[in-house]
Amino acid sequence: MMKTLVAFLLVASIIAATSHGADEEPYQIFPLRLKPGSGSEGATVQGITCASWRLAVEAHNIIEWKTVPAECENYVGNYMLGQHYRDDSKAVNREAYFYARSLALPKDGRNIWIFDIDETTLSNLPYYAQNGFGVQPSNSTKFYEWVDKGEAPALPETQKLYNKLLNLGIKIVFLTGRDDTHTEVTASNLKKVGYHTWHKLILKNTTEYGRSTAVVYKSAEREKLVKSGYRIVGNTGDQWSDILGSYTGRRTFKLPDPLYYLS
Ligand SMILES: *[C@@H]1O[C@H](CO)[C@@H](O)[C@H](O)[C@H]1NC(C)=O
Ligand SMILES: *[C@@H]1O[C@H](CO)[C@@H](O)[C@H](O)[C@H]1NC(C)=O
Repeated sequence: MMKTLVAFLLVASIIAATSHGADEEPYQIFPLRLKPGSGSEGATVQGITCASWRLAVEAHNIIEWKTVPAECENYVGNYMLGQHYRDDSKAVNREAYFYARSLALPKDGRNIWIFDIDETTLSNLPYYAQNGFGVQPSNSTKFYEWVDKGEAPALPETQKLYNKLLNLGIKIVFLTGRDDTHTEVTASNLKKVGYHTWHKLILKNTTEYGRSTAVVYKSAEREKLVKSGYRIVGNTGDQWSDILGSYTGRRTFKLPDPLYYLS
């Protein structure tokens, strides 16, 4: 039943996305407001509701989980496809803007904001919707097949922040765990959906970082930036590993992501 619902929502969403003009709100895959009582709110896993599971995940109390509990597929699917995910993302990005706007920064061109890519600037929801919303174990081969299409939509609330930061004169650095054999497609995907400029786009050099965790790799890349004279005024990610470690930035912002956990 969930599969049918998801298929329907996805088709409806794609239609909604393609029927919008360029000047309108880029709804992409977030046009639907699910009615309360759609059945998933009461779902539980090992005695807690899926809503409590999600909160514990976002607050980093449940860590190092491998997959979304099967009992919560419905719940997570409804959350991601409905308005709730978008509202939560808006709350984070809006706060980040209020913070950025309040800063009295030296005008020396050395202020940067770091954005992660997946589930931060670009959404892989079309992929995850076809793969059980994080219930299925991750498969990097399959994931990169999707990445290589270069069709990931922008996350609209993050894109608003991106544009506002540029207007404030803050430079953008994208720092992603995607491996650097996918640099070209990542750059063209970003441009295609409206991230038209950036100061640096850093993908993971697997020779250099091999099997390093995201915390180690991202800390090392941030350190290089700081040591070459940049000021990390803000840092936004969907994973705790984007914002933990060293040289994390003056303030960090955590976007929602109940689909997967990366350490
Ligand atoms: C991962 O995905 C690839 C490509 O779709 C597939 O060939 C492979 O069997 C998958 N691996 C697992 C363990 O499911
Ligand atoms: C990746 O790292 C290796 C080892 O440090 C280096 O030789 C290589 O040039 C790097 N690749 C890129 C694309 O920067």
